[in-house]
Amino acid sequence: MESAIASPSVVDLERQYLLQNYARYPLVLHRGKGCYVYDTAGKRYLDLIAGIGVSALGYAHPRLTKVIREQAALLLHTSNLYYHEYQGPLAARVARASGLDRVFFSNSGTESMEGALKMARAHGRKSGAEKYEVVSLENSFHGRTLGALSITGQEKYRRDFEPLLTGVHFVPRNDITALEQVVSGRTAAIVFELVQGEGGIHPLTAEFVRKARELADRYDALLIFDEIQCGVGRPGTYFAYQLIDPPVLPDVMVAAKPLACGIPLGVIAANERAAAAIGSGMHGSTFGGGPLACRIALEFFDILDPLLPRIVQVGDYFRMRLNELAKRYSFIKEVRGFGLMIGVELDIPGKQIVLDAIEAGLLINCTHDTVLRMLPPYILTEKEVDRGITILNRVLKKAKAG
Ligand SMILES: Cc1ncc(COP(=O)(O)O)c(C=O)c1O
Repeated sequence: MESAIASPSVVDLERQYLLQNYARYPLVLHRGKGCYVYDTAGKRYLDLIAGIGVSALGYAHPRLTKVIREQAALLLHTSNLYYHEYQGPLAARVARASGLDRVFFSNSGTESMEGALKMARAHGRKSGAEKYEVVSLENSFHGRTLGALSITGQEKYRRDFEPLLTGVHFVPRNDITALEQVVSGRTAAIVFELVQGEGGIHPLTAEFVRKARELADRYDALLIFDEIQCGVGRPGTYFAYQLIDPPVLPDVMVAAKPLACGIPLGVIAANERAAAAIGSGMHGSTFGGGPLACRIALEFFDILDPLLPRIVQVGDYFRMRLNELAKRYSFIKEVRGFGLMIGVELDIPGKQIVLDAIEAGLLINCTHDTVLRMLPPYILTEKEVDRGITILNRVLKKAKAG
């Protein structure tokens, strides 16, 4: 992989001084522009994974660059001891977009999920010490901190850290009978991703989501949607639950990844019933909701509004082109997803395909060993889709021959 070979000094330093938890691809990135990134040797890559769904407006977006410059010269951090100009307006924006009432800002997906779980615990506790159970889904992914890990339904992430939180039940996705069997008066929350991301781009059915809403209401549990990967514009609506007609509103929604387009920012949005569980001093974050992140997120929402219909169009076009490839390569089993959240299920391992794609100038990712995952920037055009398909076709041809 000629120009993509990582500079030895960077790799050596990481090998010597970093925890060895990441299995990086051999690529040192230097800069980005639009939907492209460039390595230190100047080689260009079409980026269809976008920092695992974070760089929603691609790279060096002129409007974001402008507000970052301005804000950096004004005020980077205040702590939550004081007000600043942007947290209130952003909270109002998130409330309007989500249909929920109150907002808390954090710095990541997992931190948002921790806060949501605390909200569920505190909500349940008002009814009694026994009401602390959480119902989650098999194959789910909710983050790496201990609470979020406790409700993550994948053994490989959990096993080294057990025992985790008790009282968590996992049910298979879309299994209404299993859901009905475990939700009870002891349930404090039902939590799921509307489209399982890390689990392989698997959407939930509207019937399952409606049943969860009904059960949460019946047992006074909080219905929590994890929109960290599937939300914030990616489905072509603000949030994936808005794809369901009529929409099913959660009590609590957590989001993060694209919110501030690369500056860490997470959010918990809640209705009044759920928000009432968290009183003064019960939760907080030193960095959460700082002026830089909030100002960027406000600019992002302004840019996002007119982009939403394009996300649907370009996403549909992308899936159509991928389905053409599926006719040519029998090892493609299925193309799934909504908007610009796309999974291509193979019946062969995807790892070598991802490596070959990097070499050919295309960044994608593989989850669950056999699902090629694409979470491209929202500014992706049909022309860039065509370019990605041309490269992918070349790579798949090699996989077929091999
Ligand atoms: C659905 C979902 N929940 C939670 C997380 C954790 O987010 P973070 O890595 O920002 O902590 C992720 C990250 O990929 C995710 O996809």
